Amino acid sequence: MAFQRFSDISVSERILNSFFLMSIAIGYFFSLGQIYFVHHGRDGEPGLSIDDIAIAYHGSPDQTRLAAAIKGPMAGNLKNPSDAEVILNWIDSGGKKAIYQKKVEPILQRDCIMCHSPDSGMNLPPLTNYENVVKLTTADHGPSVPSLVRVSHIHLFGISFILLFVGKIFLLCDIPIWLKRVTVGIPFLSMLLDIFAWYLTRQTPGFAYLLVISGAMMGLSLNYQICLSLIQMWMPPDDYKSLWRNMKVGSAKTGSTIYTFSKKYSPIVWQNSILMMKFLQTQAIKVMSGRTPRD
Ligand code: HEC
Repeated sequence: MAFQRFSDISVSERILNSFFLMSIAIGYFFSLGQIYFVHHGRDGEPGLSIDDIAIAYHGSPDQTRLAAAIKGPMAGNLKNPSDAEVILNWIDSGGKKAIYQKKVEPILQRDCIMCHSPDSGMNLPPLTNYENVVKLTTADHGPSVPSLVRVSHIHLFGISFILLFVGKIFLLCDIPIWLKRVTVGIPFLSMLLDIFAWYLTRQTPGFAYLLVISGAMMGLSLNYQICLSLIQMWMPPDDYKSLWRNMKVGSAKTGSTIYTFSKKYSPIVWQNSILMMKFLQTQAIKVMSGRTPRD
């Protein structure tokens, strides 16, 4: 039985696939943004670092949950940044009720309770009264196992679908069989490793490296599948093969300078983009004139 390739599927299906793949690729970049906004500055330093990730999963037992949030992801909610000091000083001085009512409560009322109250409908620790707030001034041990389990199952169910659909499209690529068999499993393996690493990092902060590496591996392999699918989907197989051949010839000479490299490639890239444009144009004409073979 002959297996399907991109040349076997209709233009409508390729358009559908392309929109799906591009949405996933864009979604991926938003998810990187999300990682940044949720975790940056947890260690007190600006920007995102491996320590921020370690703190996110392992906690920082020498710091309280409230302090970690104030210095990290919640800092931006304070209308007056110097209020952070007021809250941190209150925590350091032992979290007394009198000082809370005088200095801390007005800040929380103004900047926090629109989200952190039962009325907001968001499932967040309430900051509406002293008892609830003082609970957050205990040591930060990172997310609880039940909350990791909750996120794990959402991740596994949700991301598996993305990987399955992207992988199904990727299967239509024309690449060496061994390469296809190896690469099709990598996003799944790295996702599983990543989730496993959450629990390991919770125990031992050093595993944050494994967490970041496996997460990056998932992103890279997913985007590799997306890019290759998009290229092969729209570039006629012969052009693609000649591009690939040219790239191979080129890679044998990578030792030479970047200057000769770019000089050599710009005509090839240029030529291939023209071929791709021509191909798109003929496809568009075929579609419009109703002469497409299968659609
Ligand atoms: C726009 C809504 C919003 C506002 C305003 C807000 N938060 Fe949050 N807060 C969240 C969300 C969502 C989370 C959970 C996600 C996360 O950890 O980033 C959270 C998490 C927290 C946590 C971590 C809870 C835990 O489980 O350890 C603390 C503490 C916290 N916020 C304190 C504050 C404080 C103090 C303020 C006011 C300066 C504030 N938040 C303002 C939405 C908000």
